[in-house]
Amino acid sequence: MNGIKIRGTGRGVPSKLVTNRDLEKIVDTSDEWITARTGIRTRHHCAEGERISAITAQAARRALEDAGVSPDQIGACLVATATPETLVPSAACALQRDLGLPQDIPCFDLNAACTGFLFALHTMECLLNASPRKFGLVVGAENLSRVINWADRGTCILFGDGAGAAVVECREGWPSISAVLGCHGNSELLYLPGPESEEHGYLSMEGTRVFKFAVEAVPWCVDQVLKKTGRTVEDIDFFVFHQANARIIDLAVRKYHIPPEKYYKNIAEYGNTSAASIPLVLSELREQGKIGPGSRILAVGFGGGLTWGGCLIEFA
Ligand code: ACO
Repeated sequence: MNGIKIRGTGRGVPSKLVTNRDLEKIVDTSDEWITARTGIRTRHHCAEGERISAITAQAARRALEDAGVSPDQIGACLVATATPETLVPSAACALQRDLGLPQDIPCFDLNAACTGFLFALHTMECLLNASPRKFGLVVGAENLSRVINWADRGTCILFGDGAGAAVVECREGWPSISAVLGCHGNSELLYLPGPESEEHGYLSMEGTRVFKFAVEAVPWCVDQVLKKTGRTVEDIDFFVFHQANARIIDLAVRKYHIPPEKYYKNIAEYGNTSAASIPLVLSELREQGKIGPGSRILAVGFGGGLTWGGCLIEFA
C-alpha cells in the first residue's frame, strides 16, 4: 500500500473565549484547581449563532491554501466528529457543498471520539490508494460546548470547540503511516447519548478511570508505532499527543525523555477539543515553522469508545 504525507494544515477557532475565572461563576471550582489538575486556562466555545460547520469550512479552506491544492484535486473528504451540526447532511457532505469538492468522491463523517483524527488518517490512506485523485481532506471538528453538563464540575471545565484540517497526498513508494488503532466498547467511563435518547444529551465521564486508561494507552501506542516502523524515539522529529490533560502529556514526555523542542502543548488555550485536538496542534506547529517538509511526526490519541491509536506521518 502506498503511504500518505501531510501537504498542508489549517484551523478554525470559535470566537467566544471562556476563562477559568468565567467558570468559577458557574460551578464550584477555581482557576488554581483547573490549571494545576489539567493545564487548561481557557477554551473557545461557539458563540450564539456561530456554527461549527463554518469553523470547519474555515479550517479546511486554510489547509487547502497551505497545501496549494485546489478543491477539484481532492479524492476523498473525511470529518472526524462526535458532535456534528447535523446528522444529515454529514459534516463532510456539508464541506463538499461549501468548498465545491468534486461530487464523485466519498465524503463521510467518522466517530472515534478523541482518536477520530487518527482513525480518519488511516481510513484516508486506504481510500486514496483506490482513488484516481491523490489528495485527501481530513478534518477533526467538535462542538463539545453543546453537550456540556454545566452542573458537573468534573467535566464542564475540560472541553472546547474547534476544527483542525490537513490536506494529505498519496504517492507510490511513500511509506504507510503505519497506524495502530484499537477500541474497547465501554459506556461507563465515557458516555454521550444520541440525540433521540430520553436521557439528557450530555457528555459524562469517570475522569480518574479515564486518566488511568490514558496513561497506559499512550505508551502502548508509542511503542507499537515505533515497533511497526522500526524507528526509535530519536528518529522522531515531533511527538503530537491528544490534548486531554497536560499531566498525561507530561508523563509520556518523562517516560520517553522527549526534549522540550520535540513536543507541544496548546491545551492551556483550547482545553480538550476531542477529534480537533491533534490537527489543531499540527496547524500551530506548521504555522510556527516547527514542522514542515520532511518532518517525521508520531501522533497519539485516546478517548471515548474507548478508542486509542497512533501513527507516524511525515510532512511532504
Ligand atoms: N474544581 C474543583 N474541584 C474539582 C473539580 C473542579 N472542576 N472537579 C473535580 N473536583 C474535585 C472532586 O470532587 C474531588 O474532590 P473530593 O476528593 O473531595 O471527592 C477532587 O477534585 C479530585 O477529583 P478527581 O476527579 O479525582 O480529579 P482528577 O485529579 O482525576 O482530575 C480530571 C479530574 C481532570 C477530569 C482527570 O481525571 C482527567 O483529566 N481525566 C482524563 C480525561 C481524558 O483524558 N478524557 C479523554 C477523552 S475525552 C473524550 O473522548 C470526549
